[in-house]
Amino acid sequence: MTDEVVEQAQRRRTVAIISHPDAGKSTMTEALALHARLIDTAGATHGKDNRRATISDWMAMEQERGISISSTVLQFVYADHVINLVDTPGHADFSEDTYRVLCAVDCAIMLLDAAKGLEAQTRKLLDVCRRRGIPVITVVNKWDRPGLDALQLLDDISQETGMLPTPITWPVGIAGEFVGVLDRAKGSMVEFSRTAGGATRAPERHLSAAEAAESHLLSWATAVDEIALLDSEGQTHDDDLFRERFTTPVLFTAAASNFGVKFVLDAIIDIAPAPTTQVDVHSVGRDIDAPFSAQVFKVQAGMDSAHRDRTAFARLHSGRFERGMMVTHAQTDRNISTKYARSLVGRERATSDEAFPGDVIGIVNANDVRIGDTLYAGAAVTYPPMPSFLPEAFVTMRSRDSSRSKQFHRGLAQLDSEGVIQLLSSEARGPQRPVLGAVGLMQFEVAARRLRDEFRVEVETEPLPFSVSRIVRPEDAAGIKDAGIEMLERSDSQVLAVFADSWQLKRVQRTHPDLALDESEEDMAFRQSVALD
Ligand code: G4P
Repeated sequence: MTDEVVEQAQRRRTVAIISHPDAGKSTMTEALALHARLIDTAGATHGKDNRRATISDWMAMEQERGISISSTVLQFVYADHVINLVDTPGHADFSEDTYRVLCAVDCAIMLLDAAKGLEAQTRKLLDVCRRRGIPVITVVNKWDRPGLDALQLLDDISQETGMLPTPITWPVGIAGEFVGVLDRAKGSMVEFSRTAGGATRAPERHLSAAEAAESHLLSWATAVDEIALLDSEGQTHDDDLFRERFTTPVLFTAAASNFGVKFVLDAIIDIAPAPTTQVDVHSVGRDIDAPFSAQVFKVQAGMDSAHRDRTAFARLHSGRFERGMMVTHAQTDRNISTKYARSLVGRERATSDEAFPGDVIGIVNANDVRIGDTLYAGAAVTYPPMPSFLPEAFVTMRSRDSSRSKQFHRGLAQLDSEGVIQLLSSEARGPQRPVLGAVGLMQFEVAARRLRDEFRVEVETEPLPFSVSRIVRPEDAAGIKDAGIEMLERSDSQVLAVFADSWQLKRVQRTHPDLALDESEEDMAFRQSVALD
């Protein structure tokens, strides 16, 4: 049994794609799934207008806006490996969610637009990967379009990420005049042929070095010269250096034509790390083959319009999960039945019968379970909590129809437990006018929409003039009150002091140096990771 768990864990690769909006994340996701033959044709999903059918998008709002708000998991088998592709929200306001997703993966794929290189949001997400120690595979997409010089791009990646780029494939032909890639391990070439609208798998023609030299005279010679340069600079892949984040392997693709995508899949199974021992709150490692344990990284409701439900997504860290088993919720010590556990593939939810380390399971209607919580069987374990963030935007919300007040409050509690918004209360404001905190304004829109659709409550939102918050130590509460600063309590009982802006905070810090109002390192890192340039 434990041998089976180890063997299954070795087969798993749990990854997320990080990118700036428009770099081609949805296209790449589909292309990867297409190559793994999960879906037969990707044609219908290219272009924003047709994006409705995209397998990783499901919320009405995402479809209308053509952006991805919620994270879902796409699981597929490729070359006897199981790839779990955890979708990250594309919009900047949803980076809080992205941050949590990155707590659940073993490797990130940084997708760049060949014409743009590293963009603002990618940089921020990369910083999160750095803090989490997650290794990064770089994919330069849209090489079929005019773009930056490949060597220049490598320089930029190196300077901006601090990781040495170690290409696995190398473009033959400059961006826009892409004729194929050089397969560095084999020294041969895979020729690029355009497919109509990327509707089917691009036919790949493999050429030996001699054939490539004959067919693509100058472009091939240039690629060979550039590779020689990279060799001489020591820019070759090394597993250990990659895992330690000293290097980042680089691949070149044209996802819309499905070109180069197989190399990405191969890189995922060949070099992305398999799940390993996870450390608990006491810094004790729980081995892969220990009994079942998992950590919740996302809670979501309303995924099934027929049955209003709430699903907690947990990533397995150890053991084997079998549907129906009893698991313990570490935070409450309660047992939870997993009769209706699910694995998730876009809109089509399959019921998961078993899962192994690296996999994501969805536990339905486990109402006490919150983001960061641990589920286990056998020996008890609790994983470190996931960071919850200091809000930077605040509103008060009110139900337009006072007779729906009960539903309004139930809905807000639900959205709070999912981490969509933070529900804040204060004696001064009273229960009818709850305050909502968020990192990005769009979270309030989602909240209002969810209240309307799922709880049939129309709400009015009014902005509050705060943009900075700090956690208050109990011993500082009186001092903060004296300084005339408002305090609001979160549902996890932490009290937040709220400030109009950083100037006001600085003033209070100057006049009350005894109060601890510094940001924690984690909060600071997160704030920097989501702040747009
Ligand atoms: P996102 O999820 O990261 O936001 O990006 P998405 O996949 O939606 O892709 C953004 C645009 O870039 C899409 O174009 C998509 O077709 C295009 N694209 C993605 N990969 C490639 C590629 O390798 N080469 C080229 N040339 N384009 C690519 P769109 O204008 O929204 O739609 P359409 O062009 O398909 O009509």
